[in-house]
Amino acid sequence: MKKILVTGAVGQIGSELTMALRERYGNENVVAGGRKTRPSEKLLNSGPFEIVDCTDIDAVAAVVKKYKIDTIYHLAAILSAVAEAHPVLAWNVNINGLHNVLEVAREYDCAVFTPSSIGAFGPTTPLDNTPQVTIQRPTTMYGVTKVSGELLCDYYFKRFGVDTRGVRYPGIISNETLPGGGTTDYAVEIYYEAIRHKKYTCNLPAGAFLDMMYMPDALKAAIDLMEADPEKLIHRNAFNVTAMSFDPEIIAASIRRQIPEFVMDYEVDPVKKAIAETWPNSMDDSAAREEWGWKPDYDLEAMTADMLTVLSKKL
Ligand code: SER
Repeated sequence: MKKILVTGAVGQIGSELTMALRERYGNENVVAGGRKTRPSEKLLNSGPFEIVDCTDIDAVAAVVKKYKIDTIYHLAAILSAVAEAHPVLAWNVNINGLHNVLEVAREYDCAVFTPSSIGAFGPTTPLDNTPQVTIQRPTTMYGVTKVSGELLCDYYFKRFGVDTRGVRYPGIISNETLPGGGTTDYAVEIYYEAIRHKKYTCNLPAGAFLDMMYMPDALKAAIDLMEADPEKLIHRNAFNVTAMSFDPEIIAASIRRQIPEFVMDYEVDPVKKAIAETWPNSMDDSAAREEWGWKPDYDLEAMTADMLTVLSKKL
């Protein structure tokens, strides 16, 4: 029986991943670990919740010991725009936090899922059809921590046999919990504003193409990779995974097909623009497809239809 800890369980991905894992493995077998933000009633009432600050190794070890955890989904992280504003914090959470989790996993024999990101690439990476193995010289603190994290996870597998696995997530679009300070957040906000005001002011410029994915596919990627046959995993950590690639004009057009009055203008954030320019336009995710059968269910049109339906009810 799996006993799972999710760190960052109150965050954008963690809040939905925890619920998906509870549905799959049983409510009592999935511990939600959060830090400051108050968890939703749904998260609190459906299974165990613990305060876990991943920068405190004793706190991580205590929860793993208490619940006899064998699998950690380590979602606690600082996103790209916040990391540029607070680089020391980003290093501490994204690197020291991950290192603590890996150390605890080594001691208590846990498998570890860690997301990397399109942010692990940089301006010298081929940005179209970005290969699985390629140049990674990111120029953001977020990217520095993500590449280091990929290497650290590889190291813990090779050196200590810790069952580490991970994907490079693109921008994730969801309707449950808002993302906290990423470069790709516009692709979430645009749907909220389309419903609320039929108008959106975009902080990335037209032509800023980035890989994106709808949350159900992001959850599927994490769970499928952790359930994959380890014999078949050649790359193990940091698989490129993507579902779609678009720029602000294309997502706006997709919304306009459902809400014809929707209008968008621009007020470009120079920090986010500079970050986006160094990230892939579209990744090659064939290694994930070959090694563990990755295949997304949602394209842009299917995602837009679902986002607008869910958010119309919610807002
Ligand atoms: N969505 C993330 C960010 O923008 C990318 O991994 O920071």
